[in-house]
Amino acid sequence: MNLAEARSTLQAARRVVVLTGAGISAESGIPTFRDAQTGHWARFRPEDLASPDAYHRDPELVWEWYAGRFRDVMQAQPNRGHLLLAELERQKRAEGGSDAFTLVTQNVDGLHQRAGSAAPLELHGTLLSARCEACGHVQPLPDAATFTPPPKCEVCGHRMRPHIVWFGEFLPDDVLALAELQFKRADVALIIGTSSLVYPAAGLADRTRSHGGLVFEINPDETPLTQRASFSLRATASEGLTRLMEARDA
Ligand code: OAD
Repeated sequence: MNLAEARSTLQAARRVVVLTGAGISAESGIPTFRDAQTGHWARFRPEDLASPDAYHRDPELVWEWYAGRFRDVMQAQPNRGHLLLAELERQKRAEGGSDAFTLVTQNVDGLHQRAGSAAPLELHGTLLSARCEACGHVQPLPDAATFTPPPKCEVCGHRMRPHIVWFGEFLPDDVLALAELQFKRADVALIIGTSSLVYPAAGLADRTRSHGGLVFEINPDETPLTQRASFSLRATASEGLTRLMEARDA
């Protein structure tokens, strides 16, 4: 499939589902996880920071890292890629109602919401909230400029942990089930800025393929998904979305 065909297929699609990864926020200055020079995991080992064991061993260190990332994302701005996805959502929902477009993200930075996307499904939690270790209550973090971790639960007063899915933890059942359903039903699944290495998110596109839908990928690099995609655009998220969403007769 070529770009013109992919563009018209996307325009005609009645149900579109999008999965984003860290790459879509790279153009907002947020480091990805696996990029060789800049990625988080080039500087830190996941087991040292993003696991329940790490948190039990040294909650202050883990909180310090998440509080720093929280401050960084609150200073960052959504980029053209985030804005174009919010625009695609408006177009599709205007034509076909709320089921016509679903955004699923592995990102925890809240930039899709700030760009205008309505309630993306956050598979890996969010940096913007904390969860009580005792009662499970979830509350937003206070203003990034004044926040000093760890936060205390407003319901029971206990210490709270980052509201993030760590290595070795399960994704929230309800969020994953809804994402799987929308991937099964989609005519087009658009996979943007993810290395397609971390499951179950990396398996979502195959739900669309096995139900007869098409998979399009936008990524500057090849990924394990590229071979299985109907169309793959070697571009950044903002360039790729701009090219894919240009009007057909423009
Ligand atoms: P990765 O860091 O694994 O992959 C980022 C992808 O973005 C790579 O394939 C890059 O080629 C691509 N990329 C880089 N710059 C880009 C740009 N400007 N536009 C588009 N793509 C670009 O990040 P994820 O796939 O999101 O999980 O990682 C998945 C999960 O692994 C994360 O959610 C996180 C991590 O461990 C948890 O923390 C639970």
